Amino acid sequence: MVVRKIAENVYYVGLDDNITEFFEGIWPLPYGVSYNTYLIEDNEVALIEPGVKKELAAKYLDELETAVSLPEIDYIIVNHNEPDHSGTLPLLYRLTKAKIIASKFGVNLIRSFYNISERVTSVGSGDSLKLGKTELKFITIPGVHWPDSMITYETNNKILFSSDVFGTFGSLRGCVFDSELDLAFYIEEAKRYFVNIIGKYAESAARALEGLKNIKIEIIAPAHGPVWKEYIDSIMNLYRNLASRVSRDKITIIYGTMYGFTEELAMYIASRLAEKGFEVEVFNGVTEHPSFTISSIWDSKVVIIGSPTYDNDAFLPILTHVIYIRSKLIKDKKYAIFGSFGWSGKGYKKIQEILAELGWKLIEPIVEFQGRTTAEVKGKADELVNNIIREVGEV
Ligand code: FEO
Repeated sequence: MVVRKIAENVYYVGLDDNITEFFEGIWPLPYGVSYNTYLIEDNEVALIEPGVKKELAAKYLDELETAVSLPEIDYIIVNHNEPDHSGTLPLLYRLTKAKIIASKFGVNLIRSFYNISERVTSVGSGDSLKLGKTELKFITIPGVHWPDSMITYETNNKILFSSDVFGTFGSLRGCVFDSELDLAFYIEEAKRYFVNIIGKYAESAARALEGLKNIKIEIIAPAHGPVWKEYIDSIMNLYRNLASRVSRDKITIIYGTMYGFTEELAMYIASRLAEKGFEVEVFNGVTEHPSFTISSIWDSKVVIIGSPTYDNDAFLPILTHVIYIRSKLIKDKKYAIFGSFGWSGKGYKKIQEILAELGWKLIEPIVEFQGRTTAEVKGKADELVNNIIREVGEV
């Protein structure tokens, strides 16, 4: 738990969560996550973001009280009502006399989640609130990633309180600013956060970024992960590329294996591509959570899927990754399929059906083989590799 001044009259009040295993009950948190809130102290006091998840309420309130006496809080700005932030809203509501500010849809959610409707005001894009010399301007960003989502711009220090946008997984371990942390790690976790949480709504995110183009931003203060000050360009560029679905000359291979036959060909294909100079990310889809594989796939040009036939069907762990791909609407990729079978094949058919729905284009040949990887199978894989190289372009 950290309280830190981040600008004139503005304080970070945040909490690491190293206990929760899965964000939203789905996405693994091997490196934890932070919940960030911010206090602005002017003639009136505003708390930006309504807190943390309710299980961490006692810890959060203890720390918040070191920064401010709770009855002094005049406003609670609910940029987003997902309970990883708003779990403490009912408590804060009872312990303060603060007015709650949220988008129109947010007001609706606060009533349905917490039965709170008094002292609640809805705001729309362009509305503002003066705390003294500090002015807060509200910008609604519906669909990034909930319909209630909004961001708040502080005009005095030019801080964008961006809610989930520009957020990352990963605890902060006592640090606050991007310059105090391992940039490469948090950029990678920002990418995973985007793909897992916001990716399905990439087009809404792209529109939101367009809307920020003419706003002067000195600090980005998101609801998760580092406060961006030194590397605003890095996180902005990452978001621009992810939101507009820019692919790199990268190839992702996901395979599943029972007894090593499909894995052997996965490694053969990976080595052929690597020796030609391609960037290849290889995942054993049995042990790797789709949270990580879809993050890799998002900006890959080609995805190679290795699925043995199992019970006359796709190999279930691999099918699971494909269902995550569909869930996040990852569209218009090129892909290839390979896999071993024991006595009857075509287990990949269901994978093909799902990827066809998403507009994915198959690169042939499908390298399906009975039993072990023979020289003949490798020959067919070589043909596939040559066709993939043709699609991606020579390195
Ligand atoms: Fe961090 Fe969508 O809540």
